[in-house]
Amino acid sequence: MDLQGKNILVTGGAGDGMGQGICEAIDHAGGRIIVNDINPELAREVAKKYNHAVAVKADVSNADEVRRMFNEINKEWGIVHGVVNNAGIGLARYAHEATEEELNRLFDVDVKGIWLVSTAFVKQLLKAGEAGNIVNISSIHSFATMHRMALYSTAKTAVNGLTRGLAIDFGQYNIRCNAVAPGMIYSEQSVHIISRWTPDPIKWMKDHKTDHQCLNYFTTARDCGNAVAFLLSDLSRSITGQTIHVDGGATNLLYNNAYTSSK
Ligand SMILES: NC(=O)c1ccc[n+]([C@@H]2O[C@H](COP(=O)([O-])OP(=O)(O)OC[C@H]3O[C@@H](n4cnc5c(N)ncnc54)[C@H](O)[C@@H]3O)[C@@H](O)[C@H]2O)c1
Repeated sequence: MDLQGKNILVTGGAGDGMGQGICEAIDHAGGRIIVNDINPELAREVAKKYNHAVAVKADVSNADEVRRMFNEINKEWGIVHGVVNNAGIGLARYAHEATEEELNRLFDVDVKGIWLVSTAFVKQLLKAGEAGNIVNISSIHSFATMHRMALYSTAKTAVNGLTRGLAIDFGQYNIRCNAVAPGMIYSEQSVHIISRWTPDPIKWMKDHKTDHQCLNYFTTARDCGNAVAFLLSDLSRSITGQTIHVDGGATNLLYNNAYTSSK
């Protein structure tokens, strides 16, 4: 995969979860990374790790900040060729216990943020008459979900809808739009989240891998990053409007392995 000479904006790129896997994969493919984050110190620190990376601050849910961010990028480093809409916040709460503020913030960042960043991105491409590429980070919760995830799952389902619709609106300008839907990712952060519902999160993750995936190994943020880099590259030039599951086949299983295996 070759992203040499391409400026790729990664929102929420300073995160040590998916952001790190995505930035590593883009760096490996030779892309110039523009690390966006709401936390500017972290973004600056993270940008130092990669070959050609710079940092920009913006809250993706704020239209003025997004506009200012694109003005700054275009002035300092030129046009943005690709965007990875990775910035997102989770919400693990029973629907009847979540507050209106929590719901609004979730949709502002995870859904409205993608619309704001993608449209600002496309406007600068149209002005320059250039092609481009958008990759949204969805989740397998947009296909099947679990207790406490109704609102998160709804937000990520909206991401898949936006991915399809933007692909249709922007295809006429040679701008593609796809999504990656990560499954359970093996990371410290996942251990922390899973410990909310089980006293032994490591055992829970191992059981998930064995019983609830087709592949008997853990998916990493870098696996998701590699799928993102592929979708940003010309190797995927005819793919648009798609959401690729990077989940070891978890959403492919109707029943868990122990329930149906003949072994
Ligand atoms: N980690 C997983 O297992 C997993 C699985 C499926 C999908 N995802 C998705 O991947 C994306 C990243 O998740 P993560 O788990 O790596 O999260 P993370 O919390 O590690 O990183 C998110 C980053 O986004 C930044 N951020 C938050 N709000 C922002 C805003 N309004 N504007 C700009 N930056 C903002 C944070 O400061 C942070 O650096 C999210 O969209 C999430 O829904 C993650």
